[in-house]
Amino acid sequence: WDKLRTDPVLRMFVISLGFYGMSTFEGPMMSIRAVNSLSHYTDWTIGHVHSGALGWNGMITFGALYFLTPKLWGREKMHSMSAINWHFWLATIGIVLYAASMWVTGIMEGLMWREVDDQGFLVNSFADTVAAKFPMYVVRGMGGVLYLTGGLIMVWNMWMTIRGAKPVTTALPSNATPAE
Ligand code: HEM
Repeated sequence: WDKLRTDPVLRMFVISLGFYGMSTFEGPMMSIRAVNSLSHYTDWTIGHVHSGALGWNGMITFGALYFLTPKLWGREKMHSMSAINWHFWLATIGIVLYAASMWVTGIMEGLMWREVDDQGFLVNSFADTVAAKFPMYVVRGMGGVLYLTGGLIMVWNMWMTIRGAKPVTTALPSNATPAE
């Protein structure tokens, strides 16, 4: 438990398993006929896809990169631990905003599409659902920006780790020039 608190890499792995669990719970639920008749074609599917892709596949990839980069380039550890923490929280909050907004728009548009009046006519046009979704698309956009920002921080951190000078073990005599 102490390692979980102190080791940002490890934490990426744990959260990725959390999102793996969540999307593999959500998936079978969405495959139930009654649920799928509402969720199919809606943003609910998009939310499911991205909690799997960003939360499970993305996070496990970040964890692996943070583990491998110092190992492959012979560095003691990643350049900045606090940058990894920033990445962790930006990615986690980003996915939560993304998935939560897609649940809301998905269920909302599913319900709007099936709403009929007492004559049996559809109440909402497709454009009505698009207009109703706008605020949630702003939240989705914000989530995506946070996630992307975290990714850029990771690229910077990897670059700095790889670029970091190895400790110098030999020194030239004071009267020598590099050409000699
Ligand atoms: C037990 C695990 C899972 C089950 C049973 C499952 C089931 C489903 C269901 C029922 C849909 C909606 C299909 C539709 O209405 O058109 C769906 C869509 C999708 N899921 Fe999952 N899911 C699971 C896990 C995952 C994970 C972990 C990921 C990603 C890493 C993922 C990626 C996708 C994608 C990309 C789609 C969209 C497919 C499309 O519309 O073309 N799923 N899944």
